[in-house]
Amino acid sequence: MPSWRERPAFQQPSYPDLAHLNTVVADLRSRPPLVFAGEVDSLRQRMAQVEQGQAFALMGGDCAESFIQSSADNIRLKVQTILQMAAVLTYGASMPVVKIGRMAGQYAKPRSSDTETRDGVTLPAYRGDCVNGYNFTKECRTPDPDRMLDAYLRAGTTLNLIRAFTMGGYADLREVHSWNRGFTANPAYSRFETLAAELDRAMRFMDAAGVDFDALSRVEFFSSHEALLLEYEDAMIREDSRSGRLYDTSAHFLWVGERTRGADDAHVTLLRGVTNPVGVKIGPDAAPSDLIALMDRLNPNGESGRLTFITRMGAHRIDDALPALVEAVKADGRPVSWMTDPMHGNTIMSDTGYKTRNFATILDEIRSFFRVHQSLGTVPGGIHVELTGDDVTECIGGGESISETALAERYETLVDPRLNHQQSLEVAFEVAEMLRG
Ligand code: PEP
Ligand code: CO
Repeated sequence: MPSWRERPAFQQPSYPDLAHLNTVVADLRSRPPLVFAGEVDSLRQRMAQVEQGQAFALMGGDCAESFIQSSADNIRLKVQTILQMAAVLTYGASMPVVKIGRMAGQYAKPRSSDTETRDGVTLPAYRGDCVNGYNFTKECRTPDPDRMLDAYLRAGTTLNLIRAFTMGGYADLREVHSWNRGFTANPAYSRFETLAAELDRAMRFMDAAGVDFDALSRVEFFSSHEALLLEYEDAMIREDSRSGRLYDTSAHFLWVGERTRGADDAHVTLLRGVTNPVGVKIGPDAAPSDLIALMDRLNPNGESGRLTFITRMGAHRIDDALPALVEAVKADGRPVSWMTDPMHGNTIMSDTGYKTRNFATILDEIRSFFRVHQSLGTVPGGIHVELTGDDVTECIGGGESISETALAERYETLVDPRLNHQQSLEVAFEVAEMLRG
């Protein structure tokens, strides 16, 4: 297996002190894994079901997690939002929903420019809390390897809380259902009345039939992030003592971004060596041969549950760009899961100067994703969204009709605009209706 160190590596920070970097990396290598091989294997089995249309995947969380926002409330609200979405989607799909938080490690960001200039001052661009600080000062923006240790600890405490919530009763379906009733009681969402009433009836039926709700209060919940910062990901690779295979133990699922997905570049090469289920973001300019090359590198033998293509085309391009890619992969025959990321191809600048996304456009891309897969006889396997459990105003539109002027009220993201709690649930109800057909 080639080493990623011999390959072109894009989007990496330049650390001023390499000895410091090496000390931190050696320290990280000696620390316990954040996730365990057995859990990663379980997710691979779940992703194999997604491939075959026997489960639906929901991946969601911040564009960039920040250290300061890794508080208990913040994490709880994100988990709650994902659990609420999953309950609705489970009903809509009549299938298990694989729940994956874009959480507990989403601390490194690719940027369009290496630097940022304000009032004649040029500093390194913010690359995520794992790399440097957001404040526009030289001190903050200088990449600091110690941040990797902080990221590791924050990821660990975040996972600890996620495990407590999802194993300790917080995920009780009755509770989740009652939160969803609170959502649909809002007149802004009256169009979901029929679905809400059906969900109510289904819950009463389960109760009457003697379903063991206590057993349903524990759910599997996985973590994912972009495997961007090569030194960090490499330092988290561990050999499983049972099988001798390598796992990237920084998260259950890792993906490579649109900007770093070259089949022979460093990021894909790093993920070739690990057993985790992996994803690759695919933009509208990808060629069918790019996808085949990625399959050759990441899943040469066509193992199930290994590879996911997360398409992020833009609502205006998906109908033209996606079919040829899906057809080429279908003709190849090796299995993949397809997920839609309806966020990253649909970012716009508001007249008021905010990076935003329009709720209606996001839904348009999801609808096209389903339509394309249905017409080609392939499986629309899941959705990947940027969301938060908080009541922010970052994406315009939705039932609460957030306007361009309202963006100023609670615009808190450090990088890309996220769906707020209500908008996330609205997406889930809409997708549930698409899944029901
Ligand atoms: C992201 O998911 O935040 C991201 C940068 O996506 P992409 O690689 O698809 O642009
Ligand atoms: Co983003």
